[in-house]
Amino acid sequence: MRILETKNVTKAFGGLVAVNDVDFHIEEGEIVSLIGPNGAGKTTFFNLITGIYEPTKGEIKFLDQFLKKSKPYEITKLGIGRTFQNIRLFSSMTVLENVMAGQYCRTKADLFSAIFKLPNARKEEDRVMEKSLEILDFLDLKKIKDEIAVSLPYGYQRRVEIARALATEPKLLLLDEPAAGMNTGEKKEMQGIIRKIRDKGFTILVIEHDMKLVMGISDRIVVLDYGNKIAEGLPQEIQHNERVIEAYLGKGGAA
Ligand SMILES: Nc1ncnc2c1ncn2[C@@H]1O[C@H](COP(=O)(O)OP(=O)(O)O)[C@@H](O)[C@H]1O
Ligand SMILES: [Mg+2]
Repeated sequence: MRILETKNVTKAFGGLVAVNDVDFHIEEGEIVSLIGPNGAGKTTFFNLITGIYEPTKGEIKFLDQFLKKSKPYEITKLGIGRTFQNIRLFSSMTVLENVMAGQYCRTKADLFSAIFKLPNARKEEDRVMEKSLEILDFLDLKKIKDEIAVSLPYGYQRRVEIARALATEPKLLLLDEPAAGMNTGEKKEMQGIIRKIRDKGFTILVIEHDMKLVMGISDRIVVLDYGNKIAEGLPQEIQHNERVIEAYLGKGGAA
């Protein structure tokens, strides 16, 4: 089943076209990587899907619904979870609290009852905590559940962000450079984590620069350059695609 589909999606910032006429789709259960040099429009594409920006042109369909003018929290509720290239954890909260915050979009108790621990909210909080602990256990983060999230090493913070995104119970998970700033060992671990999440039934779209990781996890790869989709295919096809090689080499082989 097709989970997400975009048609002619375009986003211009004044005269700069960051995403240009992009047709894209992802099927249920797939891991698709979105790659391309710095400034290619990858994060902007995520921001369009998650309602942070409205497309200048084109349409985005999630399951059977067009995401026209939907707000980010509405899109989270519909079932698209994400992490950010620049980690955005709640700074005064523990790891567990960060993940619980992700779960609250699935609860009925309002924030007021939650804060003042009214009886109806109490039961719900127990459930939220239980579910959050399960997710932390799944990502091997349970032992650091009481640490202040932003005081942790970078690699852990990225994992906590993934845990929080999973707590929103997404049908589609978007990861923006989950292995950025990690060493080889941590990258390998991240590869295992992404696979493990998919094996649990999630569909994953990931922006990543590390080619070894990309080749190791992707069912399919989509390549952006200057906002345009320049290639799409199986990892081995993309690896030998002339336009892709050119796009990267033209920029010093970086990214
Ligand atoms: N809010 C914004 N305002 C103006 N320009 C932006 C904004 N967000 C991104 N851009 C520009 O759009 C282009 C694509 O950026 P981005 O999507 O962050 O690229 P990537 O994630 O592929 O590195 C860049 O040239 C960037 O400077
Ligand atoms: Mg980016």
